[in-house]
Amino acid sequence: KKIALVGAGQIGGTMALLAAQKELGDVVTIDIAEGVPQGKSLDITHGAQVIPSSVSLTGSNDYAAMKDADVVIVTAGLPRKPGMSRDDLLEVNCGIIKNVGENIKEQAPNAFVIVVTNPLDAMVYTMQKVTGFPANKVVGMAGVLDSSRFSSLIALELGVAAEDVTAMVMGGHGDTMVPLIRYATAGGVPVTQLLPMDTLNAIAARTAKSGGEIVGLLKTGSAFYSPGISAIKMAEAYLKDKKSVLTCAARLNGEYGIDGLYAGVPVIMGANGVEKVIEVELDETEKAAFDVSISAVKELTAWVEN
Ligand code: NAI
Repeated sequence: KKIALVGAGQIGGTMALLAAQKELGDVVTIDIAEGVPQGKSLDITHGAQVIPSSVSLTGSNDYAAMKDADVVIVTAGLPRKPGMSRDDLLEVNCGIIKNVGENIKEQAPNAFVIVVTNPLDAMVYTMQKVTGFPANKVVGMAGVLDSSRFSSLIALELGVAAEDVTAMVMGGHGDTMVPLIRYATAGGVPVTQLLPMDTLNAIAARTAKSGGEIVGLLKTGSAFYSPGISAIKMAEAYLKDKKSVLTCAARLNGEYGIDGLYAGVPVIMGANGVEKVIEVELDETEKAAFDVSISAVKELTAWVEN
């Protein structure tokens, strides 16, 4: 198998290391920055004996290097700086995604494409439009990360293992994302039975601002370890046909009453990419929050259309 990482920055480098550790396939990293994809690939290769990993890692400044890749993960673009919202990145990253998309179409026409670049929902929409690939083969990474942030913060509060908490965040990958408290469990026990509602509401609010919290701390860019881990989980679900139930930006075709828009929803992911969109029942408050989030996605997507 071949995995192409377009963008060799903070997230790209993290993903190259993770993909090598998991031996998911040969890893090609592509970036416009001269020497960076080559340097990061060689650096990880130098550690192959210790990891240990037997996959090949190469870096290139030429899109032709992604030829016939099975999976392409795109992080090319600018990240946020303090004071910026994800939406501030729209114009410049849209141009980059169009360029990258045309190259994916030419070089890797059968690839499963995972977009990470922000503003996520509008960028994955652009990618699917430019490539013309079937919608099940073009997805956006956000829900795995936002859900993991939500789960991890609940686990911290409970003082339990993060892996035992399952909590889901739906909607757009922006300030209006919707953490679903009612569906969160720890080892199958609803967390609403374990923590007071005001604590859970505070955790949900912190989850929605977690990306910004990291930007404020780092000052030089945005989160990259947890985004890298999350995108690799999606690549693994596809490559190993795991039928994973995870949340990602998927193109909706009538589900949740939405047509032709990318938004964060739970799906089953396997060898066919998005194999099914799962429609969970939302109560009135959750539905209202979801609708607000979808309006934000609509606004950004409309910008792309014009
Ligand atoms: P970074 O700045 O470290 O890396 C981006 C890389 O893209 C740079 O190395 C740059 O040279 C490269 N690049 C720019 N134009 C390119 C082109 N046309 N072709 C190939 N490479 C190109 O940024 P980082 O931290 O890796 O973040 C990447 C993106 O991911 C940002 O847009 C950020 O906002 C987004 N992000 C998304 C998350 C999500 O949950 N979806 C979470 C965190 C970040």
